[in-house]
Formats: sequence, C-alpha cells, structure tokens
Amino acid sequence: MVNVAILGFGTVGSGVAEVLCGHESSIARKADGLIRLKYILDVRDFPDSPFKDCFVKDFTVIENDPEVDIVVETIGGAGVALDFTRRALEAGKSVVTSNKELVAAHGYELTRLAQEKGVCYLFEASVGGGIPIIRPLSQCLAANEILEIYGILNGTTNYILTRMIRAGLSFEAALAEAQEKGYAERDPSADVDGHDACRKICILAAIAFGRHIYPEQVPTEGIRGISLADVDYAESAGKKIKLLGRAIRLDDGRVCAYVAPHLVDQSDPLAGVEDVFNAITVRGDAIGDVMFYGRGAGKLPTASAVVADVMDVARNLGHRKALLWDEGGQDAAGGVAEFKSRWYVRAAATADELKHALGGKLPAGRGTGDGEAACLTDEAMTRAELDRRLAGLEPLSVIRVLD
Ligand code: HSE
Repeated sequence: MVNVAILGFGTVGSGVAEVLCGHESSIARKADGLIRLKYILDVRDFPDSPFKDCFVKDFTVIENDPEVDIVVETIGGAGVALDFTRRALEAGKSVVTSNKELVAAHGYELTRLAQEKGVCYLFEASVGGGIPIIRPLSQCLAANEILEIYGILNGTTNYILTRMIRAGLSFEAALAEAQEKGYAERDPSADVDGHDACRKICILAAIAFGRHIYPEQVPTEGIRGISLADVDYAESAGKKIKLLGRAIRLDDGRVCAYVAPHLVDQSDPLAGVEDVFNAITVRGDAIGDVMFYGRGAGKLPTASAVVADVMDVARNLGHRKALLWDEGGQDAAGGVAEFKSRWYVRAAATADELKHALGGKLPAGRGTGDGEAACLTDEAMTRAELDRRLAGLEPLSVIRVLD
C-alpha cells in the first residue's frame, strides 16, 4: 500500500481527495496496489468533511511519518509550499503538485533535489489543468527537436476574451462575470496581467528546450488594454484576439519566450478555443504540429492530472526516471526585441496617415469612435521598427499577429 498526504485542502486539494477516494478500486487496479489518503494538512477545521479523520495541522507529522510515500502539494505560491516541498523531498518522499508558481521559479532546484534523493517531483497539473502536456512533451514527443510551443494557457483570460468577442461585453464587465463564476480571483492580476501564462510557458520551455527559463526573463503583457474596438477591428479582418504564451527555439540556442495578446486567424484551430478551455500547440521537427486541448483549470480536471501523477509514482516507486533540465542563465532566454511579427495597430489618426506610415490593410471597425483607424501590416517587423514607423502618431493599441 502507498500512503499519500495532501498539503492544502483548497479547490485542487479537495478535488484530489475526492478523486483518490471516489475511484479507489479502479485506481488500485491501474496503479498495481492500494493508494491510501493518510493525511490532509490544513490550518482550517473541516468537522463535516468525509475526510475529517485525516486532518493534521503540523507538517512535521507528515515529514516524520515513514509510511508517507507521496506528498501532494496543493498549497500554491512559493512561500510555505517551497519549504514543505524541500522538506518532503529531503525526507525521501515523492512530491506531486499543481503549483506552477513554484515549478516556474524553483523547478530546477526541486527536480535536482528529487533526483538526488531518488524520488520524484511531478507537476503534470501545473500547465493546462487536466490536459496531458508535460508527460507527452517529455516522453511521447521526446524523439523530436522541439521548434516552438505556443498556446492559450490561461482559462480566465480566454473566458473574458470570449465574452468580449461573443457578447460584446467590455473588459470590465467580462472580468466581473468571470469573478462571479469563480474563474477569476478577487485580485485578478495573476490571470489578466499574464503572469499565470508566463509561469506556464516557462515550465513548457524548460521541458522542451532543456534549460530553466525564469519568469523574469519572459516579457509579459496581459489583456487589460484590449478594447471592444480592437475586437471589432480584428473580426472585420477575419481574426480573433487571444492571449498566447510562446516559446521559440532560436538558431543561437536561446529561447525567445513571451506572453502577449495576438490576432489569430479565424481558420487557426486556436481561434475556436473558447471559454475557459486551453490549447497548446507543439511544433516538432519530426511530427510537425500537434495540439493539446481541454479544460485548463477547475477542481476535478486539475485533480485528474494530480492523481495520475500520484499513480505514476505509486506504480514506479524508486524506479521512475526524473524529469530534469539544466540551470538557466542570462544566455538561456532572449531575442524578443528582435523577433519579427506582422502587427495590428489602432491609432488616433486618419486611415490615410496610418496607411502612409505602415502600408498594409485597413480593417473597417464597427462601433468605434471618430478620429481613429486601425491597420494590419503586411510586413513582419520588430517592435522597434514598428515604433519608428509610427513616430508622430498616437497608437492606442498595438498587438502582434500570429502567422
Ligand atoms: N487561473 C488559472 C486559469 C487556473 O484561469 O487558467 C489554472 O492555472
């Protein structure tokens, strides 16, 4: 029998308890043995919970119990979660997590520590919620040189953009709706400012390209600046606005990684990814493009990925090969400033002025005010070149086009 302790009985932690106990016999069959939930660590009391006998408040109970083989860290953040993860690994226990903030900031250190101790540190649920992406990327696609990974990595912002596009809601109204539905936090900045997507692209880039990419190295822009005027102009140009995380392997070995809104062609499968769904495209030199799609957030989808990792550890106790990459550094990431795109620009200018500055096409906006126009460049150029051409004009919105 394998014993599990869950740290943090929030949305994901309680989902893990439900799935582990609700599917006990089929999990036991597939994992070659019983997996028992022994402890749940939380500072709060849950007297009515069906798991009430499992609760403890002191981490040392778990740390010092030799029967605990696997610790599920669903506390989140990089504070106490980092301390408990290090201590669990030091104590020779495998750790499974959904905590993208911790993996993006400390994944290099924690995977090495796990290897040193002969245990696992697995984090399938940290990217794409319930979508299998970490294991396919590290195992099924391992024969490829990965050229690029990009996708819709945040469900909350995708929901907000979908409501702006489909229902004509303003950003503020769509955000309020996302908060009512429990997708967005009361402080929505991690989602709407792109930080959540940034952490996820860092994790994907590390696995795909073999070096740790730190969130500080990834220029990150969210969706607060997207207006209904932009949505309208994009639509009349046959495009949809999507927040994408991208990581591209450059010829000099660096990884060009960034998060930003993009105009995506309606014919691109990413344009059809709506609401809280996520989708990730991986481009490999042998396989070409492969896309992963599904529920990127939520209690049970995320728990499904966490429990699958628990089962993987349980089946391979002491044998599973560690997921490893090299330390990052200044030379690991860069090149965003030199990365060329076609651009969408909305500016307080006449159509003639914009056309003269940029060339390209002028989509007709619906419901936009006077005194502005929008343009899609035909030519791919760096942001610096775009800014040079726009000198003297007042841009209201500048968005990359995904080609
Ligand atoms: N807040 C995240 C999202 C949850 O909206 O995608 C999953 O990481």
